[in-house]
Amino acid sequence: MRRRLCAVVVAAVLAAAAPAAVIIGGGGQPAEASSTPGANDGRGQGVVTPGGSGNTTNDPADEAASGDPMNGAAGGRRTASPARAGTSAAAATQPSGGGSGRGPALTGPLRALAARRGVSVGATVLTSSSLTDAQYAAVLGGEYSMLTPENDMKWSAVHPQPGVYGFVAPDLDVAFAQSHGMAVRGHNLAWWADNPTWLTTIPYTRDQLIGILHDHIQTVVGHFRGKVAQWDVVNEGLSGGFWWDRIGPEYIDMAFRWAHEADPAAKLFYNDAGDEGLGGHSDAVYNLVRGLKQRGVPIHGVGLESHFDLNPPPLHDIAANMARLNALGLESAITEVDVRVRVPPSAFDLERQRVIYNGLLATCLAAANCKTFASWGFTDKTSWVPSAYPGYGAALPFDAQYAAKPAYYGMRAALGG
Ligand code: G3I
Repeated sequence: MRRRLCAVVVAAVLAAAAPAAVIIGGGGQPAEASSTPGANDGRGQGVVTPGGSGNTTNDPADEAASGDPMNGAAGGRRTASPARAGTSAAAATQPSGGGSGRGPALTGPLRALAARRGVSVGATVLTSSSLTDAQYAAVLGGEYSMLTPENDMKWSAVHPQPGVYGFVAPDLDVAFAQSHGMAVRGHNLAWWADNPTWLTTIPYTRDQLIGILHDHIQTVVGHFRGKVAQWDVVNEGLSGGFWWDRIGPEYIDMAFRWAHEADPAAKLFYNDAGDEGLGGHSDAVYNLVRGLKQRGVPIHGVGLESHFDLNPPPLHDIAANMARLNALGLESAITEVDVRVRVPPSAFDLERQRVIYNGLLATCLAAANCKTFASWGFTDKTSWVPSAYPGYGAALPFDAQYAAKPAYYGMRAALGG
């Protein structure tokens, strides 16, 4: 705390000088960027004065000088030219990092920058019908190297009637991914939500439900065998709900074993929200997956959904959580990131959003076991946020007209772009 206090004081002094140097972080680790400057626990060093209060140098060299990806954020103002994403223009608007000591800023789409760092940058396709929008398809296929069907692989979509499976929509999603050289994250095989009425209303016995879940996982995973790189096998499973209440917690072990049988090459994840940093729910997820590992259940990683507002968990807590999962031999993937702001968004909030995207991606890059950074959508045009959080939105790297937002450049800066 004392160290942080002097950091804040230093930060304030420096802020007067050259804000780009304000963000103090140790060892390449991005300092937490306070989403609320000066807020609560002394994370005030995020005194990024977005929106050009005149005391920022707006000099990319600054940005590059510190080599601290967070500084990418500080220099964010270059996002003034909302070049159309996925076009060379977006990359072309990148200032050269000349004189930065970090070498020229890398060009190319996000996916190319991420590939250099051994990471996949992903985004969801809302439903296969979204792909009929040429600009939507161009940005998704051009900027991202991993695709998650946001809804087309869920129970209600693929298993609409008892014993009846519909793969038309997810097959289109997978075909799109394959034609754009994208990996696929399957989402999801057992969840408390979005289950079809027939499943939740017919009074099946426990044994019948075990049979139904087994058949579903074998059929769905089998159908996409060799085409899906990662599966969210169980989603938000600790929240109780249908499978937990009707079969018991052991459904989780069963689901992972059956998914592995159906496609031994696919990486299997337990995916949840509120498990990103440290704390009660994150500890519960940690204990769950440690137990699975101890019982020899085939699990390969934990998904950290990361649906945030401008007050995300501290980055050092997320880094510590990733490290302890790594110690269990598990990957930690950012699977559903979005950062909601009040709408219409202020330049100040968009800059803070940029800092959060930048910091979270930098934290993933710095972790030994984080190879996936995926957002829940990519354009504000199809985000789930406004329907779930009235008055909020603008949570994604591209706006509703597919223009790149500061958040997009925050991600590029973390990737060296
Ligand atoms: O496709 C039908 C359309 O034919 C119909 O006209 C329309 C009106 O009812 O509904 C459409 O389906 C909707 C679907 O999204 C596609 O837009 C469903 O009603 C709606 O419930 C569904 O919401 C999704 C929600 O999960 C429930 O599955 C959201 O898009 C999706 O963003 C959200 O995603 C979840 C993750 O799976 C798990 N983590 C949290 C995340 C956000 O809640």
